[in-house]
Amino acid sequence: MSRINNLTVLGGGVLGGQIAWHSAFKGKNVVVFDISDEALQVCQSAHDRYAAIYRQDVGAAEADIAATRARINYSTDLANAVGKADLVIEAVPEVPEIKTDVYQKMAPLLPEHTLIATNSSTLLARDFAAATGRPQQFCALHYANLIWMMNLAEIMAHSGTSDETLRQVTEFAIETGMVPIPVQKEQNGYVLNTWFVALLNASQTLVTNGIATPEVVDKTFMIANRGCGLGPMGMIDVVGMKTAYDVCHYWGTVNNDAQMLANAEYFKTQFIDKGKLGLQTGEGYYRYPDPAYAAPDFLQVPDLSAVESIVSLCRLHSKTEAAA
Ligand SMILES: NC(=O)c1ccc[n+]([C@@H]2O[C@H](COP(=O)([O-])OP(=O)(O)OC[C@H]3O[C@@H](n4cnc5c(N)ncnc54)[C@H](O)[C@@H]3O)[C@@H](O)[C@H]2O)c1
Repeated sequence: MSRINNLTVLGGGVLGGQIAWHSAFKGKNVVVFDISDEALQVCQSAHDRYAAIYRQDVGAAEADIAATRARINYSTDLANAVGKADLVIEAVPEVPEIKTDVYQKMAPLLPEHTLIATNSSTLLARDFAAATGRPQQFCALHYANLIWMMNLAEIMAHSGTSDETLRQVTEFAIETGMVPIPVQKEQNGYVLNTWFVALLNASQTLVTNGIATPEVVDKTFMIANRGCGLGPMGMIDVVGMKTAYDVCHYWGTVNNDAQMLANAEYFKTQFIDKGKLGLQTGEGYYRYPDPAYAAPDFLQVPDLSAVESIVSLCRLHSKTEAAA
């Protein structure tokens, strides 16, 4: 008998939208809370796309899709959204002030038994435990993007999390088809993002500093990691430019890391300011639904007619320097 049947997801963006849809698909009643009707409309459009993906890739029948839709409600009213929740998963932007603010506003509105989990990618539960007003009922539950394929959920306690909270959250993860990944000690980035953020930041540095084009970075990665469906720049599109910016800006500031801040600035000027937010909006480094890296010839040995364009990329930096 399941103990968590009613889920509320705070923030219906890239990850919140996926967590909400997938949990409803697995039988949970879900409310998505966001700050505006526009944001909820974006979430509903994403759910239309997930319906198609679940039909095609997960093998969902029409009745499953209809039942999933029927289990999801959308709300901009926080009190209504959390009033019946057994579990609230927070997936608002990776900005500590925004997370703290929403926890504080939610604290007086929650039923006594409600558990809370943060889906933060790189921040620690301990930093928000006090703001929740119920530290023993709070932990991190971190999902990977493209939840229907990457079905892992990292579970990370802070020192005040109770065993009962961890037990129920682990049950929820299993009930919703996730492989639980227990993290033994608090760590910014858990297991996954300890290397994933480092990979994306290093790859972005190659692009920010003009060392290689995004396609060349991805081609190198995909040839060296045979079987990978996409490379780091394609992965940045999947993460979304907004979250990529938030992570680089926050950790660049905290660690006084000039390169990470330059990478954040690149995301802002080259993408966010132009409305190109990545896969979610149809364009980032690549255009979707048919990104260049998915073309059959992306990793093939080019024919000799490509030599001149390759040579000109090799000379690009020295030409720019000569012109300066
Ligand atoms: N994008 C990823 O690949 C990924 C993966 C795992 C975890 N995460 C984490 O999930 C969280 C959300 O990331 P995302 O990529 O979905 O971000 P996003 O920018 O796509 O979505 C954030 C959503 O939160 C909403 N929001 C803003 N302020 C709010 C508030 N006060 N209350 C409720 N909603 C609010 C926004 O309107 C938006 O819909 C972050 O902590 C991020 O680190 C992201």
